[in-house]
Amino acid sequence: MRRERQVELLARVADAGPRLTGLFGETSLVQPADAYTDPARFAREQQVLFRDGPTYLGLSAECAEPGAFISARLGGVPVVVVRQGDGSLSGFVNACRHRGAPLFEGDRGTIGARVACGYHAWTYERDGRLAARPMSEGAFDDVALNCDLHRVAVAERYGIVFVRAGGTAPIDIDDLLGGAEDDLGAFGLDGYAHIESRTNTWNMNWKLLLDTFTESYHIRWLHKDSIAPAFNSDCTIFEAFGRNFTSIGLRKDVFDELGKAPEDQSLIPYGTIQYFLVPSGLVVHQLDHVETWRLEPVDVRTTRAVTSMFAPEPPATDKAVGYWRKNLDLLLQVVSSEDFPLMERIQQNLDSGALPEVVYGRIEPPLVYFHQAVDKLLAAAP
Ligand code: FES
Ligand SMILES: [Fe+2]
Repeated sequence: MRRERQVELLARVADAGPRLTGLFGETSLVQPADAYTDPARFAREQQVLFRDGPTYLGLSAECAEPGAFISARLGGVPVVVVRQGDGSLSGFVNACRHRGAPLFEGDRGTIGARVACGYHAWTYERDGRLAARPMSEGAFDDVALNCDLHRVAVAERYGIVFVRAGGTAPIDIDDLLGGAEDDLGAFGLDGYAHIESRTNTWNMNWKLLLDTFTESYHIRWLHKDSIAPAFNSDCTIFEAFGRNFTSIGLRKDVFDELGKAPEDQSLIPYGTIQYFLVPSGLVVHQLDHVETWRLEPVDVRTTRAVTSMFAPEPPATDKAVGYWRKNLDLLLQVVSSEDFPLMERIQQNLDSGALPEVVYGRIEPPLVYFHQAVDKLLAAAP
């Protein structure tokens, strides 16, 4: 993040007052609870947001070398993105053209020059062209159909990869980022190294999972025994960019920085800088690393989440790898012992139908914006 940006954001904190009330949003929002529970709404979200897209898939560092791939199920569609020999990315429907078996196994991995289907060994080039149908001489001669893999749109910039699971209409990343490219570009994400990813499935609506990270209001109480001593719980810095938004959580000692001359000020050591890439991504810049979340809604109350850790450079020793893994352990430990179990219970309460609505306050501006942005996207879609 450019120095002037950091100084500008710190000035906003200084102007916000000791309880950060100046960071509050303009309005609160009362949201019907069925936004989290209605299967018809969920089906529409899957189609409009996750299938028609575009959606965040991952960081370039997850598929840096030729043959490296990331796969996911977005809007129900199995997609895979593969790094080509020339450094570009190609996106496909991850299904064999013979009878539909998945081709690329796992959330990520690396193939050689070709990939073979595990069912009858139809074999494809990295670029999706059908290369061979072993042991089948004469068996498919009368099939006129082109059997190359079906393509999906993929776009990559600032070290971030987006796909459109539902088709090949091009993705304009700058248009999508709506101004955040300046910050994101300055982070140099394409230089990071992927350390590890872990996948967990949670019994909550995908929006509830993202809600967890939108506000700091809960820190004082829910995290009183873990992160509360170090983190401010009054408000976060919020900025919208298109459908996406930033929520910057602050450390308590950020106020020490405000006394310094602007040219000596830095926000980075005090901020958990979160970019919400609606609907599927969350990219979090911490002082010395980057964490990402990618969401795959399974059904209205089930969400698969892939959490990844990235280091600013490839770790040189096992000890360094251990250090980053421990960071990932810690992150997952706090959310899976404190945040997500509560969110799952909230989902159950909302599912009961006994609570017609929930309330997002002016103290939670990213939360308000997130739901307004999703509602707007759904309303605008044909
Ligand atoms: S389904 Fe892939 S080779 Fe038959
Ligand atoms: Fe939390």
